[in-house]
Amino acid sequence: MAVAKYSLSTWAFCRRKLSVSVGDGLLLITVSCKCKGTTLTEWIEKIENCDSVAAIEEIRIAVFGKKGVLAKAFAEMKTAANEEKAGIAKELNEVKAKLNSALNEKKIVLETEALKVAMQAEGIDVSLFSPLSERGATHPVMDTMDRVVEYFSNLNFSVETGPMVEDDFHNFEALNLPKYHPARDMQDTFYFKDETLLRTHTSPVQIRTMMNTKPPIRMIAPGSVFRRDFDITHTPMFHQVEGLLVDEKGKVSFANLKFILEGFLHHMFGDVEVRFRPSFFPFTEPSAEVDISCIFCEGKGCRVCSKTGWLEVLGCGIVDPNVFKAVGYKEVSGYAFGLGIERFAMLIHQIPDLRSLFEGDVRLLEQFR
Ligand code: DAH
Repeated sequence: MAVAKYSLSTWAFCRRKLSVSVGDGLLLITVSCKCKGTTLTEWIEKIENCDSVAAIEEIRIAVFGKKGVLAKAFAEMKTAANEEKAGIAKELNEVKAKLNSALNEKKIVLETEALKVAMQAEGIDVSLFSPLSERGATHPVMDTMDRVVEYFSNLNFSVETGPMVEDDFHNFEALNLPKYHPARDMQDTFYFKDETLLRTHTSPVQIRTMMNTKPPIRMIAPGSVFRRDFDITHTPMFHQVEGLLVDEKGKVSFANLKFILEGFLHHMFGDVEVRFRPSFFPFTEPSAEVDISCIFCEGKGCRVCSKTGWLEVLGCGIVDPNVFKAVGYKEVSGYAFGLGIERFAMLIHQIPDLRSLFEGDVRLLEQFR
């Protein structure tokens, strides 16, 4: 292999070398001022011997940098005789292309190797068994909520949300619950100074949705609600899902409401009987409470259903005209319903004390894996 050691004064010789040896891998591509040169083969060897991406970059700078050997070679070329310049430039460009691809290829190889090493060092061995790993569980309240939301989503009900800190208008007034109304007593809650409160139900989301959109509306509103209650079947925070359907006047009937809710309750509780019992809610007229035949005694009468054979599960009705008035809707009809998720979860999973759902005791969740 020809190791070039030519001085600048022997440029003419160098040029000859350049022109004859390019194809043999003996091309002199650098003629440094100190008269030392490195052949293409040697540069390629250097590249091959690199053991890191950093070393590759060093060579790239030495060859391609502003003060690199190629820049110098091109500069020196200018001193060559005019008729030889084109030939030298062509050869130098070939050298440039060869070195460039050698550098790039080696860089890819080194980067791939480095990645492999890093992956081995950082990687998670999925085949490794850890006696400490434990399977989690979905909280029964969230699991029940998901099932309710999934059912109505499949029927094209949109899922709406609203703030937990509500104002009096959305939580009560617009729902036909004026300040003097005795039904407010059943929904005592936590009040803030500025006339805001923790919402007592998800019904205010009906109001917000109606005020933000135009009919037709088909929505449910899942979320947390708050009341000043605490006993075996009540906690200060619990969850509800509200439902609302609004369409043109005369289009929505109680029969539509019955059909939807019967399908829903069969989905949640299986083959149960469903009973609509007349009731009162300020925001619906007529209103009903809905019972299912007791899933524990199949309607025969037991402790859970207080020997009645029936379990109350939700409230519903035809939207009161005063509610439509409050949101500025005219010539419409609609139905609404509301249910407590904890009540559903307690019945489905036979949980005796509602408070246990919020004690944060992991032993509760362990039963739902
Ligand atoms: N908001 C009621 C509550 O918290 C539940 C309810 C009953 C909602 C009847 C409704 C309805 O939309 O029609 O007790």
